[in-house]
Amino acid sequence: MPLPKKILLLGSGELGKEFAISAKRLGCQIVACDNYPNAPAHQVADEQEVFNMLSAPELKNIVTKHAPDIIVPEIEAIRTEALIDLESQGIQVVPNANAVNYTMNRDRIRDLVAENLGIRTAIYGYAESEKECLNVANSIKYPLVMKPVMSSSGKGQSLVKSESELKRAWEYAQSGMRGDRERVILEEYIDFKYEITLLTIRQKQGSTLFCSPIVHRQERGDYQESWQPIEMNQDRLREAQEIAKKVTDQLGGVGLFGVELFITDDEVIFSELSPRPHDTGMVTLVSQNLSEFDLHARSILGLPIPEILINKPAASHVVLAEKDGMSPKYIGVEDALSIAGVDVRIFGKTTSRVNRRMAVCLATADSVKEARQKASKAAKLISLEYE
Ligand SMILES: Nc1ncnc2c1ncn2[C@@H]1O[C@H](COP(=O)(O)OP(=O)(O)OP(=O)(O)O)[C@@H](O)[C@H]1O
Ligand SMILES: [Mg+2]
Repeated sequence: MPLPKKILLLGSGELGKEFAISAKRLGCQIVACDNYPNAPAHQVADEQEVFNMLSAPELKNIVTKHAPDIIVPEIEAIRTEALIDLESQGIQVVPNANAVNYTMNRDRIRDLVAENLGIRTAIYGYAESEKECLNVANSIKYPLVMKPVMSSSGKGQSLVKSESELKRAWEYAQSGMRGDRERVILEEYIDFKYEITLLTIRQKQGSTLFCSPIVHRQERGDYQESWQPIEMNQDRLREAQEIAKKVTDQLGGVGLFGVELFITDDEVIFSELSPRPHDTGMVTLVSQNLSEFDLHARSILGLPIPEILINKPAASHVVLAEKDGMSPKYIGVEDALSIAGVDVRIFGKTTSRVNRRMAVCLATADSVKEARQKASKAAKLISLEYE
C-alpha cells in the first residue's frame, strides 16, 4: 500500500493529537476535526475542521471536501450511520463502521459480549425511568454502579449502596448523559483486585497482537494513573487475551482496541472496550518500543509490526484542572522535568474545566513502584494559572 495516506481524524483530543503525530511520522496527511477550534490534534495536523460530528450531512460534506483515504474516529459521539454509508462507498473506516457502531453505546457492546458471545461481565440491566431503576436494582442487589448508556470518562456514573441513593444516582446519570437516550445501565459492583487495559491489535495481515497488560487506577470513574508491566498469573493472562480476541474478532476491522477487564481472585470479567487508543495507554508513549498510537497507525496503514517490547517499567499520572478557565498557563513544568526519567505531555487545551485532563506526566524507572512515585510527584508539581 503506497504512502502517504490522507486521514480524516474525527475528534481532536489528546489521544488524537498523539495519533496524528505517529501518523505524520509515516508521512500521512491529517485533517483533524472537532466541534471547537484549535483542539489538541488541530495543533499538529495539516488542516483543521470545526463542525458537529453528530450531523450526518455535515460529516459527509467534510468527507466530500477532503476525499480522505481513511477515517479514524477518536471519540464516541459520531453519527455512525454516516460512517456505514461512507464505508460502503469504499472509504476505510477504522477499525470498521460496525465496530464504531457497536461501541458507541454501552448497551450494544454489552449485549453483544454478554449475550451473543457468552463472556462474563458484571450482572446488569437497563432502565429508562426512576421506577425501572428500582426494579432492576432489586434484581441485581446492592451495591451497584449506575451509568448513562452514552457517556465517557465516568460522567454521570455513581455507586449506589442502597435504595435510598437510587433517586440521586438517576438524576446524576441524567446530568451526565450524552445524546438523546435517557437510558442507564445498572451493574453489579465488582470488588476487583485490579483492573487492566489489554491493548489488542487487529492487523490487515498477520495475527492479533497484544501489549503487555496495563494496570490503572480510577477515581470518579476517570483514570488517574496507569502502569506497565505487571506480574500476572499466566493462566489469567491467557484468559484475558482469549476474551479480547473473541470480542475484537466479532467486531472485525483493523486497528488497536483498548479492552478493559476486571481481575478478581478467580475471574477475568469483561468491562468495556474502545475501538481506538485508550487513555490509560498513554503510558506506552514511554514504556514500549512502539506506543499505542504508533501501533494504531501501523495497523490501519497495513504496515508490519514485527515485535512489541517493553523498554522499561513505566507509569503515567494525569494532571487535572482545579477550576474552569481560559488559556491556562502551566507552572512547575521545570520542576517536574528535573526528575530523571520524567517526561510531560501538555495537551494544549484552550479552556479548562474542573477535573478536565490537561496534561500527563510519564515516568520510567527500574521498577513500576518507582515509576509510579515519579509520575505522581511530577504531576503534583504542575499547576495551572490564568491571566
Ligand atoms: N461494575 C463495576 N464494578 C466496579 N467498578 C466499576 C464498575 N463499572 C465501572 N467501574 C469503575 O469505574 C471506571 C469507569 O467505568 P467505565 O469504564 O465503565 O466508564 P467510562 O465512563 O467509559 O470510563 P472511560 O471512558 O474513562 O473508560 C472503571 O474503570 C472502574 O474503575
Ligand atoms: Mg472505561
